[in-house]
Amino acid sequence: MYKIAVIPGDGTGPEVVAEGLKVLKAASERFNFKYRLEHHDLGGERYLKTKETLPDSVLGELKQMDAIYLGAIGHPDVKPGILEQGILLELRFQLDQYINLRPVKLYRGVETPLKDKGPDEIDFVVVRENTEGAYVGAGGFLRKGTPDEVAIQEAIHTRKGVERCVRFAFEYCRKRDRKKKVTLCGKTNVLTYAFDLWERAFHEVAREYQGITADYAHVDATCMWMVKNPEWFDVIVTDNMFGDIITDLGAMIQGGMGIAAGGNINPKGVSMFEPIGGSAPKYTGQGVVSPLAAIAACQMMLEHLGEQKASIGIEEAIMKVVGRDVKSLNAGKMGYSTSQVGDLVVKYVQGR
Ligand code: IPM
Ligand code: MN
Repeated sequence: MYKIAVIPGDGTGPEVVAEGLKVLKAASERFNFKYRLEHHDLGGERYLKTKETLPDSVLGELKQMDAIYLGAIGHPDVKPGILEQGILLELRFQLDQYINLRPVKLYRGVETPLKDKGPDEIDFVVVRENTEGAYVGAGGFLRKGTPDEVAIQEAIHTRKGVERCVRFAFEYCRKRDRKKKVTLCGKTNVLTYAFDLWERAFHEVAREYQGITADYAHVDATCMWMVKNPEWFDVIVTDNMFGDIITDLGAMIQGGMGIAAGGNINPKGVSMFEPIGGSAPKYTGQGVVSPLAAIAACQMMLEHLGEQKASIGIEEAIMKVVGRDVKSLNAGKMGYSTSQVGDLVVKYVQGR
């Protein structure tokens, strides 16, 4: 019996999570596993009412779960940063979800903006460090509000944090068993402390993985290659900020925010799965956004929980929907509503 916490969150989060839960139910019936859901109302509405972001009591409950299924965090009436740092980053840090795993995979039938590239060329995974770097909130102001103001935002890279991330990337590459290549994405020519540490850890760990090529690309060049030659990549490992940036680019080449999902992973703890697109306030409540990213997040969650067959079943259903049914993944252009797309995935999961 899996205990799964559900945090629908803000904006379109609840409507896409509802579709993911329909698919979860269908998968559990077809593939014979049991689960129990525990809903949490974390997000902008709760914050506006109570000024709470992530109360200790909720964090304590989340720590008891087998996984967390998250919709989106971000509310137009709340100052940017409060919910993102107070809920999303706080969950990642508190639960030590030190990997943000973001597959970039183009399914047949999905449009990519890259000319002459298809599913054979666009199929790699980004392993983003998820608990350190510039996202830890270290820094401060001096002389705030004066013409002499100084703002400092420190990026923290620890040997331990970097090494465990790099090791995860090599392990994942071995398991994935594709091109057998891990590319470190950094900026060794400018960030000569941080990426010196990354580079040393990377090459030391690489030595333990005979048969896997250890490759390096600067972050700016990585962006270029992701557009020009995405087929060069297999597993990319990188720090928190670079990973944040290149995975939005990755989402675009795999067909957009309507399909891109990720997992915040603590291999020995509680992991959290989410569509990476955000709360999309302007589409909220209209039933026009694609639920496939949230459904793909559910699929990743089941894979993580060890429900291999269910995960494959859901992925195949997603592939059918994008191959046969939806016209586009863009909001309002699918040819179906959010819940109709969810129903199609359910139908295929059920083998109908
Ligand atoms: C993401 C998001 C978050 C991040 C924001 C909302 C804090 O952009 O998951 O990529 O930067 O990690
Ligand atoms: Mn992001």
